[in-house]
Amino acid sequence: MFPLPAALQPVRVQATMAKIISVANQKGGVAKTTTTVNLGAALAEARQRVLLIDLDPQAHLALSLGVNPDDLTASTFDVLTNPRFEIGAITIPVGDGLTLAPADINLSVAEQRLGGTIGREQVLRDKLRAVQADYDYILIDCPPSLGVLTVNALTASESVIIPVQAHYLSMKGMQLLMETIELVREKLNPGLGILGILITMVDVRTRVSNQAVAALRDMFGDKVFRAMIRQNTKVIEASATGRPVLETARTSPPAQAYRQLAREVLHGQEAGL
Ligand SMILES: Nc1ncnc2c1ncn2[C@@H]1O[C@H](COP(=O)(O)OP(=O)(O)O)[C@@H](O)[C@H]1O
Ligand SMILES: [Mg+2]
Repeated sequence: MFPLPAALQPVRVQATMAKIISVANQKGGVAKTTTTVNLGAALAEARQRVLLIDLDPQAHLALSLGVNPDDLTASTFDVLTNPRFEIGAITIPVGDGLTLAPADINLSVAEQRLGGTIGREQVLRDKLRAVQADYDYILIDCPPSLGVLTVNALTASESVIIPVQAHYLSMKGMQLLMETIELVREKLNPGLGILGILITMVDVRTRVSNQAVAALRDMFGDKVFRAMIRQNTKVIEASATGRPVLETARTSPPAQAYRQLAREVLHGQEAGL
């Protein structure tokens, strides 16, 4: 056999490793789950292979994607608490390029179960290694607390997206969240960065909402994504039907805003930010 000229040699497909991003804020109702679903859908639309991981015992991520957590035989609970349980055993395809690792109510006792285990903060990170070459993005939907589940997510991630509601009280919990991120960075995951703060549920008609947006941009500068998600009933309708708003109302303002967020996330990756 003659060696092939370089130009004719088959291109070796390099296994890309998924970027792992946590969607975190200990405050409930700030659109963590909505952002996980719709950023995931927007990235999948952009031909990325996306895995969505639910770390919230309320299992809203599954519900928002039409999966009934009561019908599951296994969930992220089993992955986190059983050393022999792999993520691949619980994943469910939920769309073109979109895969879900669902939670269920069992996860509410995971904190206690992991309690005394050595290396309990690194369990998710280690489990994700096995699937990291199969996806381009892994998004982790965090629970509304800063306990061991969120710490597992932050330890496994290269960056974090912080959804914040455009409301004057929204800045109150930020300090604690930033301290937790700093602590994880120091003790467990030096590479962890803040990808960006996402302002959600903006109501441009009210002064308080506009003031909150201005205050957040003032305080966090270019750490705030340009994409901003307005309050819009299409989002609520979409999650009730179990599909991303990108599918149920393709050209609606929130769908477009989540596509813009996806472009910023993809662009940040290209720029090596
Ligand atoms: N842009 C939006 N406009 C209107 N409602 C929204 C929007 N984003 C989220 N919601 C609704 O707000 C509630 C809380 O959102 P969710 O994503 O579940 O927050 P979290 O996961 O942080 O608790 C849900 O009922 C969701 O449908
Ligand atoms: Mg949620």
